[in-house]
Amino acid sequence: MPDNPIDIPAEHGPESTATTGPFGVSRRSFIGWTGTAVVASTGGAILISRLGDAADSDTAADAIPIVLRVNGAEHTLDLDPRTTLLDALREQIGLTGTKKGCDHGQCGACTVHVDGRRVLSCLTLAPTVHRRSVTTIEGLATGDELHPVQQAFIDNDALQCGFCTPGQIMSAVVVIEGGHTSTDEQIREHMSGNLCRCSAYPFIVEAVKTARDRMS
Ligand code: FES
Ligand code: FES
Repeated sequence: MPDNPIDIPAEHGPESTATTGPFGVSRRSFIGWTGTAVVASTGGAILISRLGDAADSDTAADAIPIVLRVNGAEHTLDLDPRTTLLDALREQIGLTGTKKGCDHGQCGACTVHVDGRRVLSCLTLAPTVHRRSVTTIEGLATGDELHPVQQAFIDNDALQCGFCTPGQIMSAVVVIEGGHTSTDEQIREHMSGNLCRCSAYPFIVEAVKTARDRMS
């Protein structure tokens, strides 16, 4: 069985063993607010399934203060606690490089890094990453110099429409840094959480190998 290619944020969330969360609210209250259900908890990792978007709810939840550290900048936001990290990034902070594909944890287009691990931001509630380090596609480059993975995607024509590309690149960075690029098969396995509707997969594998070699 392949490893789960996408990590889910662990500690600090409302599902921790503490009865109160980082904002002094009970776990029960938090889950009530968010309309979420915890569907699994293994080794400290949590999986969250959203039962409905905040916009679908008849009841408004009180905003709570959240500090998001994104690409080295700190953003203090008052958010409905049901806000996903993806929506906070795109709609509150204005970082639209992270894409909303399925919004259900199926496509990988929304992949970002939290404390150096890749997560699906559409399945991550913003309060669970309070004060944690978030990196998006906008934070990879150094000034005008693209990250090696970004450059490798360009050099290998590893995109067509480009919609999946930010998520592909964010995943590829973690896959390369994790050393999971020994073979094409291993690359495909560890990149399997990121779908490409344009089927640019062969070029994506080549881009990962190019970046791997340049980063070694
Ligand atoms: Fe998050 Fe598709 S938008 S997995
Ligand atoms: Fe179009 Fe991947 S390049 S979805």
